[in-house]
Amino acid sequence: MQISKYAAIGAGLLLLAGCSHADKRQARTAGQHAELGSKAQASRQPTPPPPRKIDCDQVKCVALTFDDGPGPYTAGLLDTLKKNGARATFFMLGENVGAHAAVVRRMALEGHELANHSWSHPQLTGLSPAGVRSQIQRTQQAIAQASGGVRPTLMRPPYGATNKRVGHDIGMPLILWSVDTLDWRYRDVARDTRVGIKEPQPGGIVLYHDIHKASVESIPKVVDGLKKRGFTFVTVSELFQGQKLTPGVTYTERLKPAPVTASPPPAGSSAGPAGPGPTRPGNPASPAPSSTG
Ligand code: NI
Repeated sequence: MQISKYAAIGAGLLLLAGCSHADKRQARTAGQHAELGSKAQASRQPTPPPPRKIDCDQVKCVALTFDDGPGPYTAGLLDTLKKNGARATFFMLGENVGAHAAVVRRMALEGHELANHSWSHPQLTGLSPAGVRSQIQRTQQAIAQASGGVRPTLMRPPYGATNKRVGHDIGMPLILWSVDTLDWRYRDVARDTRVGIKEPQPGGIVLYHDIHKASVESIPKVVDGLKKRGFTFVTVSELFQGQKLTPGVTYTERLKPAPVTASPPPAGSSAGPAGPGPTRPGNPASPAPSSTG
């Protein structure tokens, strides 16, 4: 049995390498075996699944987002999301990542989006350019290290506070929200649940904080209620598929396709260009972000 097994492995190596009979013996050297072994091991290392192809112009999408973690309740939240096949986005503080590295790795492997919410939650508009860049870069590194190499592409400024200079220094699209649950203020499961089910509109971004127990406890029913409303749970990057996001520009929800109108908008209209494209800060269709974030 052993002999035929090795013969099969040898034949496999020959096929793969396209090598001669003489090479067969070389391929059996310890070094080769070690190299093949480590390659096999590397390919066995789980890797994050790619974003799914979901057309959020056709499908009723919502992006649940969780800020300020990871924390002690985040693993339980991942259990809820997994059970429901729901993906979410985590805007994490770099200073919290190291203590919850396994949870961050798990987020990545389960298809959630890892995103940057600064290192220590300062109001970035009060920092120097170097200070802003440090808040961003340290967090990028912490998340990459914990997750096994995932580098966030989206940022949410603490308190939603930004301006043109800060946006430039951050250098990533700035993701705010269309639904502010105010979970951080009320810490009330029933209220968090009610708001989370009722308020989201298709293409919306919902703000929760996974550092609060009540918020995390509300999510099973929120997911249930939104499913009944016909929603699909997507990451923020999935939400914006097909729409180009620009670094330094603020987004609060997926832009609606341009409505088909009989006549063009009046000249000098302040509505901006119709159709998908970079948003203006604070989409007028959405409630203005409050100072939570
Ligand atoms: Ni925050």
